[in-house]
Amino acid sequence: MSGARKTAARRGTFIVLEGLDGAGTTTQTERIASVLRSEGHPVVTTREPSDGPLGTLIRQALTGRLGMPRGAGPLASETLALLYAADRTDHLKARVLPALDEGKVVLSDRYVLSSLAYQGASLPMAWVETVNAYAVPPDLTLFVGVAPEVAARRRALRGGPAELFEADEAQRRIARQYLAAIRRRQKRERIVRIDGELSVEAVTEASLAEIRKVLGRKRVR
Ligand code: TYD
Repeated sequence: MSGARKTAARRGTFIVLEGLDGAGTTTQTERIASVLRSEGHPVVTTREPSDGPLGTLIRQALTGRLGMPRGAGPLASETLALLYAADRTDHLKARVLPALDEGKVVLSDRYVLSSLAYQGASLPMAWVETVNAYAVPPDLTLFVGVAPEVAARRRALRGGPAELFEADEAQRRIARQYLAAIRRRQKRERIVRIDGELSVEAVTEASLAEIRKVLGRKRVR
């Protein structure tokens, strides 16, 4: 394992929010960032798929605007898994690692656990893990857990076009994969489940409590 993978070597703190589509990770990322900023922490918020060129390609694939050559259908799940992994390399090098080197708190809306859950729902999880092996482990992953039915209701309220993984059956499968991925990774990584069915305020508070434990540990180091 290279030095870059050791979380202790970083000056900043890398925190990831994960959950089903509709779990509320985007809302919570912004709410958590604004509280931490008000307390004087330098915070960078970001997301995967990223806003870079590969993230843009992925978003096109998710809405059916990008597919295989000659109209041969949607991208193969292997292709999409590799695109997510490639986007992650870009995102790490261009945005996450530089901010961590500057000592910032980086809050990412989704990261490797999304690939293990979503791509792992149709491909062997070990292969998905292998193509993501370069991705540095976060200091903390918050899994915002909601029942698939609750997530579906929230997506319906939000409106907008349905994306590739948003069918109810797919989401139930992804929910199971998230639990399998968490079991697989939590020996090596700090992953905490937050009850995402609580009020928006309570989810923010519970998340901040976990984040403060990690920030406190860093300070005394
Ligand atoms: P999402 O966070 O929902 O973006 P947006 O709010 O812009 O729609 O992410 C898009 C989809 O991509 C979502 O269904 C989860 C999926 N996804 C993966 O399948 N694998 C991954 O590695 C990541 C980061 C996301």
